[in-house]
Amino acid sequence: MLNRRTLFQASTTVGGAVAAFFGGRKAQAKIPGMADVEPRGADRRLERLPTLDVESREDFLTHFRIWVNGDVRKVAEKRGKAIMAAKGLDNRTPMPHDDAVKLLDGDHIIGLSGRAWISAQQLMWKNLQDEFHGNADAYLAEMEAADNAGPGKLELNPDMHMPKYTKHEIHMQPGGYVGDPLGGYVYHYGTNNFWEARNYQDEMHEQLVKGIPVPKDGKIKRILHMGCSSGQLTLRLKELYPDAEVWGVDVGGPMVRYAHMRGVDLGIGANFRQALAEDTGFPDGYFDIVTSFLLFHEVSSEGAEDIIKEGHRLLRPGGVFYSRDQRDWTKLRERTAFSRYQSSWIWRWNHEVWQRDHNSNDYPKMLSSAGFQVANPRGEKAVGNASSELMGTKPA
Ligand SMILES: C[S@@+](CC[C@H](N)C(=O)[O-])C[C@H]1O[C@@H](n2cnc3c(N)ncnc32)[C@H](O)[C@@H]1O
Repeated sequence: MLNRRTLFQASTTVGGAVAAFFGGRKAQAKIPGMADVEPRGADRRLERLPTLDVESREDFLTHFRIWVNGDVRKVAEKRGKAIMAAKGLDNRTPMPHDDAVKLLDGDHIIGLSGRAWISAQQLMWKNLQDEFHGNADAYLAEMEAADNAGPGKLELNPDMHMPKYTKHEIHMQPGGYVGDPLGGYVYHYGTNNFWEARNYQDEMHEQLVKGIPVPKDGKIKRILHMGCSSGQLTLRLKELYPDAEVWGVDVGGPMVRYAHMRGVDLGIGANFRQALAEDTGFPDGYFDIVTSFLLFHEVSSEGAEDIIKEGHRLLRPGGVFYSRDQRDWTKLRERTAFSRYQSSWIWRWNHEVWQRDHNSNDYPKMLSSAGFQVANPRGEKAVGNASSELMGTKPA
């Protein structure tokens, strides 16, 4: 049987033609030696998945997700309203999560909407894991070749203490962020599915970094991204601030290893360190900006408090702490029985184990207790608990 992988690796003519056709950047790829696994070239920043089969399945699952998140969910929501109305209840009456679950859980239309979503998520991880684990030697060799290459450096810390709360398989990703050596690959392509095909070129991260507030004096020598995962935001930060020293830290060794490899391949000199956000190992006052994206809803409340304290320690006077995360669903989104039900359901089935804690944390209070002046990046008023943005400045 024809092996596409061997064919494309063996024949530079065919491989080159494929890369050129898809606007690939194989010629500029910088992973040393012959280790670069890129059998179907790259579409600008994104290396194509290595076989058409894997890519087609991902594509199907991404568009299936878009349909489930859109039309299917609308039908389920309508059903939720009808169930409430039939019981003479107002859909917007505040109700505890468990009551909403009791009311709506047995309905087959709502159940089908949830089941479709979960199955798509499970199949998405499986499709990716099968590919990356089935060819583990090649992918491990690719990362190994990049470990000591630049631009940018990688610091792994395999003996570090990992709090229990960091080991959950959040989003049902097998092995989670810390337990699968190929987790960085699986996560990156998995999030392409999460972001519903809108972030293949890290375009969401490109926009996000432009929105990160900067210190009043405009001095930006060093930036830290906490909970950097596959490094997309960290790389975009380095591109926006090429003269700054930019670091991404993550508890997951597989995450920072993949992030660094991608930086090497794209020629972007951000640095990555495996470290806890609450214990990064950098000196006091080292950074001008400490930022995070979607970190806090995935850590325990104690973890969040310690991370904010560490952010305060790491910033120089006048430095900015800025985080963006999910909105507080209790206040903004959980206004209907259906959305309360859905939030519980994500917590239970998508293993978002810290989401409920996140919803009830008073982040502005945590910031001011740590010594920050709480600020609103979009105006003068202090950011409320219900905002997706959180900003504190370290008093000068
Ligand atoms: C949803 S992902 C973050 C996405 C990423 N910031 C981005 O820009 O796309 C959450 C990340 O936080 C990391 N994480 C969770 N707890 C952590 C901790 N205490 N210290 C460092 N990283 C942590 C996880 O390993 C995971 O990679």
